[in-house]
Amino acid sequence: MKIAIVNGPNLNLTGKREKSIYGAKSFEEFVSDMKKGFPQVDFVYYQSNIEGELINKLHELDKEHALKGILLNAGAYTHTSVAIGDAVAAIDQPVVEIHMSNVFAREDYRHVSFLGKHAIGSISGFGMESYLLGILKLMNQQ
Ligand code: DQA
Repeated sequence: MKIAIVNGPNLNLTGKREKSIYGAKSFEEFVSDMKKGFPQVDFVYYQSNIEGELINKLHELDKEHALKGILLNAGAYTHTSVAIGDAVAAIDQPVVEIHMSNVFAREDYRHVSFLGKHAIGSISGFGMESYLLGILKLMNQQ
């Protein structure tokens, strides 16, 4: 079973950046924990700070027929990128929108998501467990 995690800008700095919001664990550590915790899942992990690269990755993942779906944390592009929203609408893979922080408890501009409408659901506010909940959803997805 294959599940993709696609992270957008600044998420490569998780563990170092704004620890009070995003925690002290690096994303690489989290992916390694997930690999140990879910040996039956083949995790594809991709991170980019570049909008077009994220879009290209979504297009590429759309061709992966064995994929159960994509957990997408588009970071700040969530709130600004019509193009990433369009990419999520364009592909057939189920996409779960992920945020570690509770975006609804933060600045107003973080309450807007250009991709949420095209996702099967959104998970926000549970730190790295937001991804864990998304993994459980995709594992149960038919
Ligand atoms: C984030 C929330 C975004 O508003 C922010 O720009 C991020 C991370 C989150 O995971 O909580 O970079 O997507």
